[in-house]
Amino acid sequence: MDFSKLNLIRLTPEQEIKPFDCGDCDLNDFLFQDAKNYFNELYAVTYLLENKNNTVAFFSVLNDKISFEDTKKSKSSWELFKNTIAGEKSLSSYPAMKIGRLGVSKEFKMQGIGTYILDYLKILFITNNRTGCRCITVDAYNKSLEFYKKNEFKYLTYKDEKKDTRLMYFDLNKVIYNQ
Ligand SMILES: CC(C)(COP(=O)(O)OP(=O)(O)OC[C@H]1O[C@@H](n2cnc3c(N)ncnc32)[C@H](O)[C@@H]1OP(=O)(O)O)[C@@H](O)C(=O)NCCC(=O)NCCS
Repeated sequence: MDFSKLNLIRLTPEQEIKPFDCGDCDLNDFLFQDAKNYFNELYAVTYLLENKNNTVAFFSVLNDKISFEDTKKSKSSWELFKNTIAGEKSLSSYPAMKIGRLGVSKEFKMQGIGTYILDYLKILFITNNRTGCRCITVDAYNKSLEFYKKNEFKYLTYKDEKKDTRLMYFDLNKVIYNQ
């Protein structure tokens, strides 16, 4: 896949959205019906990855935090998370950026585009950062858990094991130490 042929565009209310279908109706509907409202209301910012004729992928991001409540009040999960973060000072919550939505067009799945987007976000949030952001979070659909695991996201707790989505996180400090 030649990523240099794709354009990354920040969605604004004036922006035309080229055709897109990732096979998931909720995600498709979000892009065409809600994404611009989320932008106007400052709820989330959406980015489009486009080629000449189509939207190849999109993702939306928003601010987040990880706190004890997110572990579904599992003391052992919270201690494990804090030990993984391993800062000198323990905080009551840790600043994060959430991937609110992420979808890759059916035609372009399994070609590395989802990974390309995650790598882009990992670098974006540690480069010239304007606010503190330690982790990327996502409420991952069950069908996408393997994808996030391959991209080194971890579960915060096992208490959401039987739910439709699982809270996963990626520690951005890993990227800083690997540079
Ligand atoms: C999940 C999704 C974003 C992955 O994007 P993608 O561009 O197809 O993923 P990549 O090509 O970067 O795949 C990276 C790795 O994850 C694996 N992977 C991707 N999707 C997978 C799936 N559904 N099940 C199992 N493994 C998967 C790939 O096999 C690949 O592994 P490899 O490096 O060993 O080859 C995409 O399939 C999608 O849009 N799905 C529908 C919507 C969705 O579930 N979004 C997530 C919302 S939380």
